[in-house]
Amino acid sequence: MKDAAPQPIHLADYRPPSYLVEEVRLTFRLQPKGTRVLSRVRFRANPEGLEDGNLHLDGEGVRLISCSIDGEPLTAFDYLLTAEGLTVPAARLPEGAFTWEAEVEIDPEENTALEGLYTSNGMFCTQCEAEGFRKITFYPDRPDVMAPFTVRIESDLPVLLSNGNPVASGEGWAEWHDPWPKPSYLFALVAGELVAYSDRFTTMSGREVALNIWVRPGDEGKCAYAMDALKRSMRWDEEVYGREYDLDVFNIVAVDDFNMGAMENKGLNIFNSKFVLATPETATDRDYDFIEGIVAHEYFHNWTGNRITCRDWFQLCLKEGLTVFRDQQFSADMRSAPVKRIEEVLQLRARQFREDAGPLAHNVRPDSYVEINNFYTATVYEKGAEVIGMLHRLVGADGYRAALDAYFSRHDGQACTIEDWLAVFEDVTGRDLSQFKRWYTQAGTPRVSARWARTGGTLKMTLAQELPATPGQPLKEPAVIPVALGLLAPDGTELLPETLVVLDGREAELEFDIAGMAERAGVAMPERVIPSLLRGFSAPVILDAPLSRADRLVLLAHDPDPFNRWEAGRSLMRETLLAMLTDGAAPDAALFEALATLLTTDTLDPAYRALALALPSEDDIAQAAHDAGVVPDPTAIHGVRRALQTAMAEALQPVLAALHDAMDPGPVYSPDAEQAAKRSLRNAALMLLARVEGPERAQARYDAATNMTDEMAAFAALLEAGDTQVAARFHDRWKGDRLVMDKWFMVQIAHAEPEQAVAVAQRLTDHPLFDWKNPNRFRSVIGGLTAGNPAGFHDPTGAGYRFLADWLLKVDAKNPQTAARMSTAYETWRRYDADRQQLIAGELDRIAAAEGLSRDLGEMVSRIRGS
Ligand code: TRP
Ligand code: ZN
Repeated sequence: MKDAAPQPIHLADYRPPSYLVEEVRLTFRLQPKGTRVLSRVRFRANPEGLEDGNLHLDGEGVRLISCSIDGEPLTAFDYLLTAEGLTVPAARLPEGAFTWEAEVEIDPEENTALEGLYTSNGMFCTQCEAEGFRKITFYPDRPDVMAPFTVRIESDLPVLLSNGNPVASGEGWAEWHDPWPKPSYLFALVAGELVAYSDRFTTMSGREVALNIWVRPGDEGKCAYAMDALKRSMRWDEEVYGREYDLDVFNIVAVDDFNMGAMENKGLNIFNSKFVLATPETATDRDYDFIEGIVAHEYFHNWTGNRITCRDWFQLCLKEGLTVFRDQQFSADMRSAPVKRIEEVLQLRARQFREDAGPLAHNVRPDSYVEINNFYTATVYEKGAEVIGMLHRLVGADGYRAALDAYFSRHDGQACTIEDWLAVFEDVTGRDLSQFKRWYTQAGTPRVSARWARTGGTLKMTLAQELPATPGQPLKEPAVIPVALGLLAPDGTELLPETLVVLDGREAELEFDIAGMAERAGVAMPERVIPSLLRGFSAPVILDAPLSRADRLVLLAHDPDPFNRWEAGRSLMRETLLAMLTDGAAPDAALFEALATLLTTDTLDPAYRALALALPSEDDIAQAAHDAGVVPDPTAIHGVRRALQTAMAEALQPVLAALHDAMDPGPVYSPDAEQAAKRSLRNAALMLLARVEGPERAQARYDAATNMTDEMAAFAALLEAGDTQVAARFHDRWKGDRLVMDKWFMVQIAHAEPEQAVAVAQRLTDHPLFDWKNPNRFRSVIGGLTAGNPAGFHDPTGAGYRFLADWLLKVDAKNPQTAARMSTAYETWRRYDADRQQLIAGELDRIAAAEGLSRDLGEMVSRIRGS
């Protein structure tokens, strides 16, 4: 018999708690097994409380040793203890304020879910967001309960860390105090044999802050870049948002076993080591880029997330969307803004549009959830950031800054909602945002269609929006869609410079005086006008615009908006691929000529040129086919994508060879944007050239590589060329480095021939270094197949689907969060043919029927399967 399905939690059921916390004191007596946690919590009745007046403390998997109220021990008759927590009835509680004390026992060593207190390579660490604190002790584990924490750690380990400032320490103990009231999800503790890479920062008001990155001995030499990124983040937040750091120390700890990227615990950020550790020899340019962005993201949470937090988990986007937007602004300032924007949109389309188009579609602010961990999604994060980007565009940079200043001063120290956030913008800018709010409350990607016609000197344009139905939301209201647009003449003359049009009804009619524009531009009336729509990707929508191939070629050559210039090339490639797929058409030489021009325009950033050269991914093509009413065949998609690459490589061979030689980043590696750009273009050329030239160039690059960016690019090219030696060479060189070996696993699967991909993945799961309990390693192998090799994953026999299901079931028993995340590989299943759908449905049903399935994976599988 299966347990009854866990009940969903609804936003509409939110009630302020009956009790608030004034102060928390915790003592940890650390042991791998049998850690004792003593807590002393001062509660006060909440005058605004709307719950039942009982004291409800969350607690899961903690053994209660003893507890008391105001020093009076409680017996089992005084409270109700369940698998979810402990309740003391109101009648048993003193009026006003009281002190709860408890001693509990937990086993960090047995904790494989990596949530709560656990061990990783002999070090103790915690992960409490979203609901992990309840696995440490009994507490109101909800973000609207904020309190200052004092923590004492007792352990023989040399380094003992918690939130806030260090208070005192001695042989075998240390005490920390965090003066800033915080919810329990921001609690953190670390203990281990660690070494620090240290630095200092002087804040805008002249306070000194000690900065430390704590790592395992031997890794100190891999922290310089993360530290540099941290200092730049701290300065940037002062300069751009006026936000100063607020403690004497800022600690970062790198952990090998971690479910996600990193965590913003107050004053003690904990990171997946892959987003901290880097040397030129072991990390790629992309890794450096991620390190910079994630260090910034977690640091920025100090104000957007920690000082101002979320009232409940439905408001997750309040901190995540905003913090992603902030880290994107930071990265755009540190590197090339157009390149960053294109990369953001690539990510958004690959992950969020995909999510919005399938059974897992949900609002930026969901209405209900079963397991909150399943809602740390591309929609909450990336679409949440896009929504803030639209607000920024609508109110302008000054309005935005004024609103943010008001937000920080009005809500500092509070747990807030999206309503609070929007009210600040309304008050500061005088705008009514009630319709804009639909971006938070309606799921799905809006479709904007543009139609236009010329009559004499006038261009009439209609913009229309439509929001497709999503699970549980059949009908939608129109959103507020900022559409940045310009108009070009066929020779590239800009007739209308960028203008912002706000589409807030289902339809809008626009009129442009082309005659007047031509006159002002000093050109003859053009025979046709080419709209450049949705510049900078001004809204997260799917645009349908009847631009001809000739129009798109003009935009690709001349659009002054770098995003749309790239987008023009992208849409030409997508169309070409679809035509190849559906009627075996040959690619059109005009596209290659336009690319050649762009590639040889030396004033363009090489990173931008590299992006222009990249084809849509196989998953993008599958979605595009599906949108065009064609059932995607993953094998055929893989084939046409390769064919187009080969055709491009043939047509552009001399250009690519010249670029390859011209893009010399110089002898000394630096991860900066300028050098990374050259490497990205050089390696993009290398990959294509390997298709038509044979493997010599890649072989030479591999042999001469002095950095991981080049080594990985050459490795991939050699694998595709059928090299059977390179994997062993790489393995022998890097077998001692966990992070590099993650790449070794991944790349072999991603670059295997699709028919062999499952077999390669299977073989690699038998490798002695395949430690499936390590989330990074698990994702390298399983994700290497599901995301890295879609044609292999969708093997018509169903072997890929079965392989994934087997591993999900195995991992779910140990680490539900990681299993649930990986299950999204199935979310696109409705796109495919009846045979594949049946195979996937079979696996989903097999998982759903499994004994002891977690709430995490159970919810995902049932949502993906649908009704
Ligand atoms: N709040 C974290 C961030 O955005 C992410 C996070 C949520 C997380 N839950 C987690 C990280 C669990 C690790 C494990 O930066
Ligand atoms: Zn975050």
